[in-house]
Amino acid sequence: MNIPWGSDIANRFITNIGLVTTNGIHGHNIMACEWTFHLSYGPALIGVSVNQRHATHIHIRETKEFGVCIASINQSMLSSIAGRGSGKMFDKIKVAEKLGFKFSPAKSINVMMPEGSAVNLECKLFSEIALGDHTLFVGEVIEGSVNPQEKPLAYHSGRYWDMVAAQEKPSAEVREKIKMLIEQHVK
Ligand SMILES: Cc1cc2nc3c(=O)[nH]c(=O)nc-3n(C[C@H](O)[C@H](O)[C@H](O)COP(=O)(O)O)c2cc1C
Repeated sequence: MNIPWGSDIANRFITNIGLVTTNGIHGHNIMACEWTFHLSYGPALIGVSVNQRHATHIHIRETKEFGVCIASINQSMLSSIAGRGSGKMFDKIKVAEKLGFKFSPAKSINVMMPEGSAVNLECKLFSEIALGDHTLFVGEVIEGSVNPQEKPLAYHSGRYWDMVAAQEKPSAEVREKIKMLIEQHVK
């Protein structure tokens, strides 16, 4: 079966927005990518699942490197710019700059990084896996930094969300009960 964009099933997921920055035949570019995942602690590996038609796909194949910034709650407009229209057609970074967003060059790869993200990662292509209509590009992180004051933006049901309230973990009593049940069901 297919699970199309915007369908009831797709809308139940909660994701981050990765702002994937690349450089290549279409110039410096930025793309919104909700399918951005932390895949390994050591070495640090990050996956971005990118549709084969996107300029970002062409650039990662061409240069074997990309930046991934985890969007902060102040960057929902930047995500909309990055996710609307292709870098094949217009310069999204220039448009974002005109709207007040700032970019600076990455330290170790040849891409621009948006300022004010929750996390900034510079990646070298580690592997790629063809997955249906997307390609999962796995990047090894060679530079990483965090902006502790910036809260990550969540994406759910086609809308941007601010995570407001953490839910309580199970109480000590419930945790004790779970421990007892685990002991009773040891294999
Ligand atoms: C919130 C949001 C999340 C998105 N997530 C993805 C994604 O995970 N993978 C993908 O291939 N495209 C995703 N897109 C679509 C691309 O960002 C969009 O098609 C973009 O124009 C591609 O840019 P490019 O051709 O310059 O690379 C998303 C768009 C938005 C608005």
